[in-house]
Order: sequence, then structure tokens, then C-alpha cells
Amino acid sequence: MVVNKRIAVIAGDGIGKEVIPQALKVIEASCAPVVVTQFDWGADRYLLDGTTVPNDGFEMLGRNFDAVLVGAFGDPRIPTHTHAKQILLGMRFRMDLYANVRPVRLLDSALCPLKGISTEEVDFVVIRENTEGLYVDCGGAFGEGTPAELAIQEDVHSRKGVERIIRYAFEYCRGNSKGDGSPREGVLMCDKSNAMSYVGALWQRVFSQVSAEYPSVKARHMYVDALAMHMVRDPRQFDVIVTNNMFGDILSDLAAGLQGGLGMAPSGNLHPGRTSMFEPVHGSAPPLAGKNVANPIGAILSAALMLSYLGFSSASARIEAAVVRAVRQGKTTEDVGGGLGTRETGEWIAEQVAKLDDA
Ligand code: NAD
Ligand code: IPM
Ligand code: MN
Repeated sequence: MVVNKRIAVIAGDGIGKEVIPQALKVIEASCAPVVVTQFDWGADRYLLDGTTVPNDGFEMLGRNFDAVLVGAFGDPRIPTHTHAKQILLGMRFRMDLYANVRPVRLLDSALCPLKGISTEEVDFVVIRENTEGLYVDCGGAFGEGTPAELAIQEDVHSRKGVERIIRYAFEYCRGNSKGDGSPREGVLMCDKSNAMSYVGALWQRVFSQVSAEYPSVKARHMYVDALAMHMVRDPRQFDVIVTNNMFGDILSDLAAGLQGGLGMAPSGNLHPGRTSMFEPVHGSAPPLAGKNVANPIGAILSAALMLSYLGFSSASARIEAAVVRAVRQGKTTEDVGGGLGTRETGEWIAEQVAKLDDA
């Protein structure tokens, strides 16, 4: 008997409210056995009654759901980003979703700003530490608004946190193949240990210890500044990149640029074996909101990642195949060269998913 998986859906703000309904349409067309429950957490609810996450919200997600599908948070009416931080970073931290997995795959060479590149040449993954670093918001301010003002934002890394994300990257490399079926070969750790001695030493030491346990996986290191340059000039050399929270945030937007922009990029926030969260890499894009122009593919591919995590690999593969068709036939939004709206793109992809036989 197939047991339905329970999915919590939080569309959030801005274009999140437009792309998530398309992802849900596509999930439905895939016939994956899931039950969906929607939550209204986001800017409107916060402005209405001050609620960001209801009491017990994170525990409730862990107890009652197998996965969470999220749109985006961010609203110009809330310049402090209070609700976005509490909901999004809250899920990552409080549910201990330590591995932020951001696959970077070029689905059609026309989408890449680099000349003469083929799709197989951009196929890597950024594995971003998701619970530590500069994001812990540990610090303080002094003399705000005065000439003596001081602000401190601590960069916090634990042995446990660094080790588990590096180990995750090696396991990911061993357990996952590239889009064309060839094996993944190496893990590249990216840091700034030439300037940041203490944190750098911890990452370097742990990387060297963990990599010794995986002799079949090639281990490399690159400083983040050089990596940013190489990513633009020669992305072919990358396979699995593991890095800290902040560098992973920045590099994954840069990498999204290679696949056609933020509208194309999916992600998973994972703690293996636990309720995990899936979301497009992009934000709420306020200028695009309400216009039916946002690209829903990042959200749709995030749904595919979620279904794969839940064990529905055939449904996930059919969704990915339908997205590839959409991109290659120009059945997309304008940001990636098509002429369709958000809804029409979602509908076209959903129809294709329904037509595709089980792979
Ligand atoms: P953004 O990702 O919303 O937009 C950056 C650029 O990418 C814009 O030019 C936008 O038009 C384009 N873009 C993004 N998504 C797109 C899509 N689906 N289709 C087509 N084009 C797309 O980032 P931003 O402008 O820096 O931030 C806007 C708000 O979103 C802020 O409040 C920010 O804090 C928030 N944000 C939230 C998340 C999240 O919830 N995960 C992620 C990033 C930013
Ligand atoms: C992302 C976003 C978030 C982050 C923001 C909204 C806090 O940019 O998911 O990449 O920095 O992690
Ligand atoms: Mn980001």
C-alpha cells in the first residue's frame, strides 16, 4: 500500500504566491501520493496580527509533515525583514536543516551567458552550510547613530557543524551522479582561510580529516574570491562545492546566473531523515509580483527535489524531463526567452508531466 506523504506549503510573499501554485499543479500532474496543507505565514499575516510563526510552529512542521515547500519571503512594507528572518531562517535553524543543497544545471545552452558552452559543462552543486556562520546573528551594536558607532557580527563555526556539512558533501558526491548519468568525482571546499585564521583553520583541518576517509573522491580547495572568477570563466571544472553559509548564499546566486538566472534555480534545505524544506533560490522579487511574469521553474524543480527526497524518484524525473522540454521548446517566461506567463508555463509543464510515461 502506498502511504501518502504529508507536505506543508508556505507560499510566502511576492512572487512566492505565484510560483508555488504552479509547483503544486505540477506535483498533482505527477500523481505522486502526497497530501498538501497550506499555511499563510508571510508578510500579510504578520502585518495583520503580528504573527510570524505561530507558537509550536516549527515543532508542528516536524511532527505533522514529511516535507515543507516554500515560496519566498520579503516585503517592502517590512524593511526590518523581521518576518522573513523568523520564518525562513527560523526553519533552517530550529529544524536543524544543516545542508542547503543548490544544484546548478544548464538545461539549454541558450540560457548561459557564456559563449559556446554545452549543457553538460554546467552541472555542479553548491552545498551550503545552513545553520551557522555569519547567519547566527550573534553580535551587538554600540553608540548607534554617533560617530563612535560600533557594530559586531560574529562568524560562528562549530566542529560539529563544519564536520557534518563536509561529510554531507562527500556522501553526496559518492551517492549522486550528474545529469548525464556520469559519476560525480570530487569535492571542492571553498573558504577564505588566507584571511580568516581561526575559522579557516577549523575548516581546513576538518576538510583534510574527512577527505582522508573518502580516498575515491578527489578533494580540492579554492579561496572564495578565486572561485567566483573561475565560476564565470570555466564552470566545467566544478562538481561538488562545499562552503559556509554566507559564501554559499552568494555563490549560489552567481551560479544561478550560469543556468539562466534566479528563476531557474532550485534548492533543498535538508537534515537527512528529518522533515526537510524545499524552495527556489530566488526571493520575493517585489517588482515582478502580481504580473504573471515570474519564472516558476525554480519552484517546480524544488518540488522535484522534494519528491525525490520523499522517495518518489519517477515523479521527480518526469518533472525534470518536462522542464527540460519546456526550456528547449521556449514554453517559458520571458526571463529565459519564452513568451508565456507564470501560470501558462506551469500549466504547460503540468500537461507534459501527465503525458510522460514513467521513466
Ligand atoms: P530576488 O531573488 O527576489 O530578485 C533578484 C533578481 O532576480 C531580480 O531582478 C528579479 O526580478 C529576478 N528574479 C528572481 N526570481 C525570479 C523569477 N522567478 N523569475 C524571473 N526573475 C526572477 O532578490 P532581491 O531583489 O534581492 O530580494 C527581494 C526580496 O526577497 C528581499 O526582501 C529579500 O530579502 C528577499 N529574498 C528572499 C529569499 C527567500 O525567501 N528564500 C531569497 C532571496 C531574497
Ligand atoms: C536565500 C536568501 C536568504 C539567505 C535571505 C532571504 C535571508 O538569500 O535563501 O538564499 O540569505 O539565505
Ligand atoms: Mn540568497
